[in-house]
Amino acid sequence: MTHKIAVLPGDGIGTEIVDQAVKVLNALGEDFEMEFADVGGVAYAHHGHPLPEATLNLAKAADAVLFGAVGDFKYDNLERSLRPEQAILGLRKALGLFANLRPAKCFAELTSASTLRPEVVSGLDLLIVRELTGDIYFGTPRGRRTAPDGHFPGAPEAFDTMRYTVPEIERIARVAFEAARKRKNKVTSVDKANVLETSQLWRDTVIEVAKDYPDVTLEHMYVDNAAMQLVRAPKALDVVLTGNIFGDILSDEASMLTGSIGMLASASLNDKKQGLYEPSHGSAPDIAGKNIANPLATILSAAMMIRYSFDMNEQADRIEAAVQKVLSDGVRTGDIMSEGCRKVSCSEMGDAVVAALA
Ligand code: IPM
Ligand code: MG
Repeated sequence: MTHKIAVLPGDGIGTEIVDQAVKVLNALGEDFEMEFADVGGVAYAHHGHPLPEATLNLAKAADAVLFGAVGDFKYDNLERSLRPEQAILGLRKALGLFANLRPAKCFAELTSASTLRPEVVSGLDLLIVRELTGDIYFGTPRGRRTAPDGHFPGAPEAFDTMRYTVPEIERIARVAFEAARKRKNKVTSVDKANVLETSQLWRDTVIEVAKDYPDVTLEHMYVDNAAMQLVRAPKALDVVLTGNIFGDILSDEASMLTGSIGMLASASLNDKKQGLYEPSHGSAPDIAGKNIANPLATILSAAMMIRYSFDMNEQADRIEAAVQKVLSDGVRTGDIMSEGCRKVSCSEMGDAVVAALA
Protein backbone atom coordinates (compact mmCIF):
# COMPACT_ATOMS: atom_id res chain seq x y z
CA MET A 1 0.00 0.00 0.00
CA THR A 2 1.31 3.43 -0.98
CA HIS A 3 1.36 6.08 1.73
CA LYS A 4 1.10 9.62 0.41
CA ILE A 5 3.19 12.19 2.27
CA ALA A 6 3.02 15.92 1.63
CA VAL A 7 6.47 17.26 2.46
CA LEU A 8 6.47 20.94 3.45
CA PRO A 9 9.96 22.05 4.54
CA GLY A 10 9.08 25.77 4.97
CA ASP A 11 11.56 28.40 6.08
CA GLY A 12 14.87 28.75 7.88
CA ILE A 13 16.35 25.42 8.92
CA GLY A 14 13.17 23.69 7.66
CA THR A 15 14.77 22.49 4.43
CA GLU A 16 17.89 21.00 5.99
CA ILE A 17 16.12 19.18 8.82
CA VAL A 18 13.33 17.83 6.61
CA ASP A 19 15.94 16.55 4.13
CA GLN A 20 17.34 14.35 6.91
CA ALA A 21 13.94 12.94 7.84
CA VAL A 22 13.22 12.20 4.15
CA LYS A 23 16.57 10.40 3.92
CA VAL A 24 15.63 8.25 6.92
CA LEU A 25 12.15 7.49 5.54
CA ASN A 26 13.62 6.48 2.18
CA ALA A 27 16.08 4.18 3.91
CA LEU A 28 13.20 2.14 5.34
CA GLY A 29 12.45 0.71 1.90
CA GLU A 30 8.69 1.24 2.25
CA ASP A 31 6.28 2.47 -0.39
CA PHE A 32 6.12 6.19 0.38
CA GLU A 33 5.00 8.68 -2.25
CA MET A 34 6.43 12.07 -1.26
CA GLU A 35 5.47 15.32 -2.88
CA PHE A 36 7.09 18.63 -1.90
CA ALA A 37 5.46 22.06 -1.73
CA ASP A 38 6.23 25.56 -0.48
CA VAL A 39 4.82 26.75 2.82
CA GLY A 40 5.38 29.79 5.06
CA GLY A 41 7.56 32.73 4.11
CA VAL A 42 9.05 30.98 1.11
CA ALA A 43 5.52 30.34 -0.18
CA TYR A 44 4.67 34.00 0.31
CA ALA A 45 7.80 34.96 -1.64
CA HIS A 46 7.00 32.57 -4.51
CA HIS A 47 3.21 32.64 -4.61
CA GLY A 48 2.07 35.65 -2.56
CA HIS A 49 0.54 33.58 0.27
CA PRO A 50 2.03 31.54 3.15
CA LEU A 51 -0.43 28.72 2.51
CA PRO A 52 -1.09 28.64 -1.25
CA GLU A 53 -4.12 26.69 -2.41
CA ALA A 54 -1.95 24.11 -4.15
CA THR A 55 -0.11 23.40 -0.90
CA LEU A 56 -3.33 23.15 1.07
CA ASN A 57 -4.84 20.77 -1.50
CA LEU A 58 -1.72 18.62 -1.47
CA ALA A 59 -1.90 18.41 2.34
CA LYS A 60 -5.60 17.56 2.27
CA ALA A 61 -5.09 14.78 -0.26
CA ALA A 62 -2.13 13.26 1.60
CA ASP A 63 -2.25 10.61 4.31
CA ALA A 64 0.18 12.68 6.34
CA VAL A 65 2.10 15.94 6.23
CA LEU A 66 5.78 16.15 7.12
CA PHE A 67 6.37 19.75 8.12
CA GLY A 68 9.62 21.59 8.81
CA ALA A 69 9.19 25.06 10.29
CA VAL A 70 7.96 28.48 9.23
CA GLY A 71 8.92 32.05 10.01
CA ASP A 72 11.70 34.49 9.29
CA PHE A 73 12.54 38.02 10.46
CA LYS A 74 12.05 39.12 6.85
CA TYR A 75 8.32 38.55 7.10
CA ASP A 76 7.68 39.96 10.57
CA ASN A 77 6.28 43.20 9.23
CA LEU A 78 3.72 41.67 6.89
CA GLU A 79 0.10 42.03 7.86
CA ARG A 80 -0.94 39.15 10.12
CA SER A 81 -2.90 37.20 7.51
CA LEU A 82 0.21 36.93 5.30
CA ARG A 83 2.73 36.02 7.98
CA PRO A 84 4.40 32.60 7.73
CA GLU A 85 2.80 31.43 11.03
CA GLN A 86 -0.61 31.64 9.34
CA ALA A 87 0.41 28.63 7.24
CA ILE A 88 0.65 26.28 10.20
CA LEU A 89 -2.44 27.72 11.85
CA GLY A 90 -4.32 27.43 8.53
CA LEU A 91 -3.26 23.80 8.07
CA ARG A 92 -4.30 22.91 11.63
CA LYS A 93 -7.69 24.49 11.06
CA ALA A 94 -8.31 23.21 7.52
CA LEU A 95 -7.36 19.63 8.38
CA GLY A 96 -9.10 19.72 11.77
CA LEU A 97 -5.89 18.75 13.58
CA PHE A 98 -7.25 19.20 17.08
CA ALA A 99 -4.95 16.84 18.97
CA ASN A 100 -1.33 17.83 19.41
CA LEU A 101 0.92 15.22 21.01
CA ARG A 102 4.28 16.44 22.24
CA PRO A 103 6.34 13.78 23.98
CA ALA A 104 9.21 15.08 26.09
CA LYS A 105 11.63 12.29 26.66
CA CYS A 106 15.07 12.73 28.13
CA PHE A 107 17.51 10.30 26.52
CA ALA A 108 19.94 9.07 29.18
CA GLU A 109 22.87 10.32 27.08
CA LEU A 110 21.51 13.87 27.13
CA THR A 111 20.84 14.40 30.83
CA SER A 112 23.88 16.66 31.01
CA ALA A 113 22.65 18.76 28.05
CA SER A 114 19.64 19.93 30.06
CA THR A 115 19.90 23.18 31.97
CA LEU A 116 18.39 21.30 34.94
CA ARG A 117 20.26 18.98 37.29
CA PRO A 118 20.64 15.44 35.95
CA GLU A 119 18.67 13.85 38.80
CA VAL A 120 15.69 16.08 38.00
CA VAL A 121 15.48 15.01 34.34
CA SER A 122 17.11 11.59 34.02
CA GLY A 123 14.54 9.04 32.92
CA LEU A 124 11.96 11.76 32.23
CA ASP A 125 9.23 10.69 29.80
CA LEU A 126 6.09 12.78 29.68
CA LEU A 127 3.49 13.52 27.04
CA ILE A 128 1.82 16.86 26.54
CA VAL A 129 -1.62 16.56 24.93
CA ARG A 130 -2.43 20.04 23.68
CA GLU A 131 -5.74 21.07 22.15
CA LEU A 132 -4.81 22.70 18.85
CA THR A 133 -7.77 24.20 16.99
CA GLY A 134 -9.60 26.24 19.63
CA ASP A 135 -8.93 28.63 22.51
CA ILE A 136 -7.65 32.18 22.19
CA TYR A 137 -5.74 31.18 19.03
CA PHE A 138 -8.91 30.92 16.98
CA GLY A 139 -11.60 32.51 19.16
CA THR A 140 -13.67 35.34 17.75
CA PRO A 141 -14.33 38.20 18.11
CA ARG A 142 -10.83 39.55 17.97
CA GLY A 143 -9.32 42.71 16.66
CA ARG A 144 -8.68 46.36 17.37
CA ARG A 145 -11.10 49.04 18.38
CA THR A 146 -11.58 52.00 20.68
CA ALA A 147 -11.92 50.78 24.27
CA PRO A 148 -15.61 51.03 25.20
CA ASP A 149 -14.86 50.77 28.92
CA GLY A 150 -12.08 49.57 31.27
CA HIS A 151 -9.21 51.57 32.73
CA PHE A 152 -8.81 53.84 29.71
CA PRO A 153 -12.12 54.21 27.87
CA GLY A 154 -11.63 55.76 24.45
CA ALA A 155 -8.05 54.52 24.14
CA PRO A 156 -7.02 52.30 21.22
CA GLU A 157 -7.12 48.66 22.33
CA ALA A 158 -6.77 45.13 20.99
CA PHE A 159 -8.66 42.04 22.12
CA ASP A 160 -8.76 38.27 21.60
CA THR A 161 -11.32 35.78 22.82
CA MET A 162 -10.66 32.61 24.79
CA ARG A 163 -13.41 30.11 23.94
CA TYR A 164 -14.03 26.40 24.31
CA THR A 165 -17.15 24.34 23.69
CA VAL A 166 -17.90 21.17 25.64
CA PRO A 167 -17.42 18.81 22.63
CA GLU A 168 -14.01 20.36 21.87
CA ILE A 169 -12.91 19.69 25.44
CA GLU A 170 -14.41 16.21 25.47
CA ARG A 171 -12.62 14.99 22.35
CA ILE A 172 -9.17 16.18 23.43
CA ALA A 173 -9.74 14.81 26.94
CA ARG A 174 -10.48 11.40 25.40
CA VAL A 175 -7.20 11.53 23.48
CA ALA A 176 -5.38 12.15 26.76
CA PHE A 177 -7.19 9.39 28.68
CA GLU A 178 -6.61 6.89 25.85
CA ALA A 179 -2.92 7.82 25.78
CA ALA A 180 -2.73 7.43 29.56
CA ARG A 181 -4.02 3.87 29.25
CA LYS A 182 -0.97 3.01 27.13
CA ARG A 183 1.33 4.68 29.68
CA LYS A 184 1.00 5.12 33.44
CA ASN A 185 -2.78 5.58 33.75
CA LYS A 186 -2.50 9.13 34.98
CA VAL A 187 -3.67 12.45 33.51
CA THR A 188 -2.83 15.89 34.84
CA SER A 189 -5.26 18.43 33.42
CA VAL A 190 -3.86 21.94 33.38
CA ASP A 191 -6.11 25.00 33.49
CA LYS A 192 -6.64 28.34 35.20
CA ALA A 193 -10.01 27.52 36.72
CA ASN A 194 -9.40 29.84 39.65
CA VAL A 195 -9.73 32.80 37.28
CA LEU A 196 -11.15 31.85 33.86
CA GLU A 197 -14.66 30.73 32.85
CA THR A 198 -13.23 28.71 29.96
CA SER A 199 -11.01 26.87 32.38
CA GLN A 200 -13.89 26.11 34.75
CA LEU A 201 -15.80 24.56 31.85
CA TRP A 202 -12.62 22.73 30.88
CA ARG A 203 -12.26 21.30 34.38
CA ASP A 204 -15.95 20.35 34.74
CA THR A 205 -15.90 18.63 31.33
CA VAL A 206 -12.66 16.73 31.97
CA ILE A 207 -14.16 15.44 35.25
CA GLU A 208 -17.20 14.16 33.33
CA VAL A 209 -15.07 12.43 30.66
CA ALA A 210 -12.91 10.86 33.38
CA LYS A 211 -15.96 8.85 34.52
CA ASP A 212 -15.51 6.71 31.38
CA TYR A 213 -11.92 5.97 32.44
CA PRO A 214 -12.15 4.79 36.06
CA ASP A 215 -8.78 3.05 35.66
CA VAL A 216 -7.05 6.38 34.98
CA THR A 217 -6.16 8.75 37.83
CA LEU A 218 -7.05 12.37 37.13
CA GLU A 219 -5.47 15.35 38.83
CA HIS A 220 -5.91 19.06 38.14
CA MET A 221 -3.24 21.70 38.21
CA TYR A 222 -3.32 25.45 37.66
CA VAL A 223 -1.11 26.48 34.77
CA ASP A 224 1.18 28.67 36.87
CA ASN A 225 1.79 25.78 39.23
CA ALA A 226 2.30 23.42 36.27
CA ALA A 227 4.99 25.74 34.91
CA MET A 228 6.71 25.47 38.27
CA GLN A 229 6.25 21.70 38.69
CA LEU A 230 7.74 21.13 35.22
CA VAL A 231 11.09 22.42 36.43
CA ARG A 232 10.75 21.34 40.06
CA ALA A 233 9.67 17.69 39.75
CA PRO A 234 8.81 16.91 36.12
CA LYS A 235 8.95 13.16 36.66
CA ALA A 236 5.79 13.41 38.80
CA LEU A 237 3.92 14.22 35.56
CA ASP A 238 3.01 11.72 32.86
CA VAL A 239 0.19 12.78 30.52
CA VAL A 240 -0.40 16.54 30.67
CA LEU A 241 -3.73 17.57 29.13
CA THR A 242 -4.19 21.23 28.33
CA GLY A 243 -5.63 23.88 26.02
CA ASN A 244 -4.00 25.56 23.06
CA ILE A 245 -2.25 28.58 24.60
CA PHE A 246 -1.18 26.89 27.84
CA GLY A 247 0.08 23.91 25.83
CA ASP A 248 2.08 26.17 23.55
CA ILE A 249 3.92 27.67 26.50
CA LEU A 250 4.34 24.51 28.58
CA SER A 251 5.64 22.47 25.64
CA ASP A 252 8.51 24.89 25.02
CA GLU A 253 9.31 24.72 28.70
CA ALA A 254 9.15 20.91 28.68
CA SER A 255 11.53 20.76 25.72
CA MET A 256 14.33 22.13 27.87
CA LEU A 257 14.00 19.14 30.20
CA THR A 258 15.08 16.90 27.33
CA GLY A 259 18.34 18.72 26.80
CA SER A 260 17.43 20.68 23.70
CA ILE A 261 14.35 21.87 21.88
CA GLY A 262 16.06 20.19 18.92
CA MET A 263 14.92 16.83 20.31
CA LEU A 264 11.18 17.42 20.65
CA ALA A 265 8.91 15.76 18.08
CA SER A 266 5.23 16.41 17.63
CA ALA A 267 2.13 14.99 16.00
CA SER A 268 -1.06 16.90 15.23
CA LEU A 269 -3.94 14.57 14.50
CA ASN A 270 -7.53 14.80 13.32
CA ASP A 271 -10.26 12.23 13.84
CA LYS A 272 -9.36 10.42 10.59
CA LYS A 273 -5.80 9.57 11.63
CA GLN A 274 -4.53 12.10 9.16
CA GLY A 275 -1.72 13.98 10.78
CA LEU A 276 0.80 16.75 10.49
CA TYR A 277 4.19 15.92 11.95
CA GLU A 278 6.69 18.59 12.83
CA PRO A 279 9.48 19.33 15.25
CA SER A 280 8.24 21.45 18.16
CA HIS A 281 10.95 24.02 17.52
CA GLY A 282 10.87 26.90 15.10
CA SER A 283 12.69 27.87 11.91
CA ALA A 284 15.80 29.29 13.64
CA PRO A 285 16.61 31.73 10.79
CA ASP A 286 19.82 32.75 12.59
CA ILE A 287 21.41 29.36 11.89
CA ALA A 288 19.62 28.54 8.62
CA GLY A 289 21.72 27.30 5.71
CA LYS A 290 24.71 26.55 7.94
CA ASN A 291 24.06 22.81 8.15
CA ILE A 292 24.40 22.87 11.95
CA ALA A 293 20.77 22.39 13.07
CA ASN A 294 19.71 19.31 15.00
CA PRO A 295 17.47 17.17 12.73
CA LEU A 296 16.54 14.63 15.42
CA ALA A 297 13.21 16.25 16.37
CA THR A 298 12.16 16.04 12.71
CA ILE A 299 13.42 12.48 12.35
CA LEU A 300 11.51 11.51 15.52
CA SER A 301 8.44 13.29 14.10
CA ALA A 302 8.73 11.11 11.00
CA ALA A 303 8.75 8.09 13.33
CA MET A 304 5.56 9.39 14.94
CA MET A 305 4.08 9.83 11.46
CA ILE A 306 4.54 6.23 10.42
CA ARG A 307 3.39 5.03 13.85
CA TYR A 308 0.20 7.09 14.17
CA SER A 309 -0.91 7.63 10.56
CA PHE A 310 0.43 4.45 8.89
CA ASP A 311 0.37 1.94 11.77
CA MET A 312 3.98 0.99 11.05
CA ASN A 313 4.96 0.39 14.65
CA GLU A 314 7.92 -1.82 13.85
CA GLN A 315 9.48 0.67 11.45
CA ALA A 316 8.82 3.52 13.90
CA ASP A 317 10.61 1.52 16.61
CA ARG A 318 13.51 1.07 14.18
CA ILE A 319 13.89 4.83 13.69
CA GLU A 320 13.69 5.51 17.42
CA ALA A 321 16.24 2.78 18.13
CA ALA A 322 18.55 4.27 15.48
CA VAL A 323 18.32 7.70 17.15
CA GLN A 324 19.06 6.06 20.48
CA LYS A 325 22.07 4.32 18.93
CA VAL A 326 23.65 7.46 17.45
CA LEU A 327 23.30 9.16 20.83
CA SER A 328 24.88 6.16 22.57
CA ASP A 329 27.69 6.32 20.02
CA GLY A 330 28.38 9.90 21.09
CA VAL A 331 27.27 11.57 17.85
CA ARG A 332 26.06 15.13 18.58
CA THR A 333 24.97 18.29 16.85
CA GLY A 334 26.16 21.52 18.49
CA ASP A 335 23.06 22.09 20.60
CA ILE A 336 23.51 18.80 22.48
CA MET A 337 27.29 18.62 22.31
CA SER A 338 29.17 17.54 25.42
CA GLU A 339 32.72 16.57 26.27
CA GLY A 340 34.09 13.41 24.70
CA CYS A 341 31.40 13.34 22.00
CA ARG A 342 31.79 13.74 18.23
CA LYS A 343 30.32 16.97 16.86
CA VAL A 344 28.58 16.53 13.52
CA SER A 345 26.63 18.65 11.05
CA CYS A 346 22.92 18.38 10.38
CA SER A 347 23.41 16.19 7.30
CA GLU A 348 26.01 14.01 9.04
CA MET A 349 23.51 13.43 11.83
CA GLY A 350 20.97 12.30 9.20
CA ASP A 351 23.57 9.97 7.68
CA ALA A 352 24.41 8.58 11.11
CA VAL A 353 20.75 7.75 11.78
CA VAL A 354 20.45 6.06 8.35
CA ALA A 355 23.59 4.03 9.08
CA ALA A 356 22.24 3.05 12.49
CA LEU A 357 19.02 1.74 10.89
CA ALA A 358 20.94 -1.08 9.27
C1 IPM B 1 4.00 25.82 18.05
C2 IPM B 1 4.33 27.19 17.52
C3 IPM B 1 3.09 27.76 16.83
C4 IPM B 1 2.03 27.89 17.89
C5 IPM B 1 3.32 29.11 16.09
C6 IPM B 1 4.38 28.98 15.03
C7 IPM B 1 2.04 29.63 15.48
O1 IPM B 1 4.80 28.02 18.53
O2 IPM B 1 3.67 24.94 17.24
O3 IPM B 1 4.09 25.62 19.27
O4 IPM B 1 1.96 28.90 18.60
O5 IPM B 1 1.25 26.95 18.02
MG1 MG C 1 5.06 27.02 20.38
